[in-house]
Amino acid sequence: MLTPEKNEALTRVGPGTQMGEVLRRHWHPIAGIDELARHPVKPVRLFGEDLVLYRDLSGHYGLVDRFCAHRRADLSYGFVEERGLRCSYHGWQYDHQGGCIAQPYEDQVDPAGKLRQRTRLQAYPVRPKAGLLWAYLGPQPAPELPDWEPFHWENGFVQAVFAEVPCNWLQAQENSIDPVHFEWMHANWSRRLRGQMGGYAPTHLQLAFEEFEHGFIYKRITEDSGENNPLWTIGRVCLWPNGFFLGDHFEWRVPVDDENTLSVTWSFLRVPREAEPFAQASIPTWHAPIRGEDGRWITSHILNQDIVAWVGQGRIADRTRENLGASDRGIAMLRRQLFEDIEAVQAGHDPKGVMRNPEANQRVFLPSDSRDFFMKGLPLADYRRHPKWARLLRHFIFHAGQPEWVQQAHQAATGVAIEPMDQLDL
Ligand code: FES
Ligand SMILES: [Fe+2]
Repeated sequence: MLTPEKNEALTRVGPGTQMGEVLRRHWHPIAGIDELARHPVKPVRLFGEDLVLYRDLSGHYGLVDRFCAHRRADLSYGFVEERGLRCSYHGWQYDHQGGCIAQPYEDQVDPAGKLRQRTRLQAYPVRPKAGLLWAYLGPQPAPELPDWEPFHWENGFVQAVFAEVPCNWLQAQENSIDPVHFEWMHANWSRRLRGQMGGYAPTHLQLAFEEFEHGFIYKRITEDSGENNPLWTIGRVCLWPNGFFLGDHFEWRVPVDDENTLSVTWSFLRVPREAEPFAQASIPTWHAPIRGEDGRWITSHILNQDIVAWVGQGRIADRTRENLGASDRGIAMLRRQLFEDIEAVQAGHDPKGVMRNPEANQRVFLPSDSRDFFMKGLPLADYRRHPKWARLLRHFIFHAGQPEWVQQAHQAATGVAIEPMDQLDL
């Protein structure tokens, strides 16, 4: 349970807030590389700021104020030039550093005027990596953009999914260090959603939480998994400060503002040996719906189920009214670390997880119970028999609404067609 002041400190992310300042010390995935290749100008909102992301005709990315410095027209309706973005109202043009590089009428009648030099938009750096575009909204110098080792795995079909979720970022991130919810939310609830009334999934017997350089690791023993199971020997990674790495996929929870979060999922699927060697030309990224036609939340896929939990806690969860138990030791560790991060930033230091050494930021290893399989691969016949991977070969289990063009790309890569899935079969 937190005091109202402490709940506010951990959840408010707008400009000048304590947690906003902590999270701005990290790079965040905000869009797909292929998305900007299709539509070069995109409005985005991050940490309570309205911005526009673009890819200019020379292939450079910019992230600048959403509203033109002239008379505040909406630059998400601007158009890209060889260099930078041009406002569609009177043609003022901006580069990726926010500098104004053209003011057509002023340049005509008053070429020596100082207005252009004085005009500037807020601008933030953007970098492409692993199919995603990453932004840094903190003070310079920017830290390293993490080079996680799974970004280099080969012979895999990768896709990334974005979902806009109407709740605060911390509800989503607390889900990254909550092992017991898997048994109830994903296993038992999925059975009931499929109409299976009897029987429960194997229950959790023991939990462990450990801190490491890039976050926390949680481990579990359940009725059907002992001390030699990778869920205990390797575990899962609560990736600092707003990520989750589950061995085969990443999730990030990027604050849009206090009451909205961009959920980003990046998943890797090894292709069957018959389809190797496979090199992916472009990583497909897509936007997932989270409500069904009836207006209720979609419940059929893993992230959709998680989203039901996050939004169910309210736009900003009231942590003054909760009752933490033994299953929530990880949650308490996470919050303690966030308070330490706030103190570190206020003292002028980097918070946990910020990497500054480029040599250390090369293929940074993260614990993964899937790594062996992803390194070695399997022939199709064995793949189809595998208790875990057979399902991922035929279904995209993480988000409902996978577009047909992504299903076709999956099939072209793996040789296996995606089959519909009405309810999760774990
Ligand atoms: S408002 Fe953008 S150029 Fe005038
Ligand atoms: Fe979950």
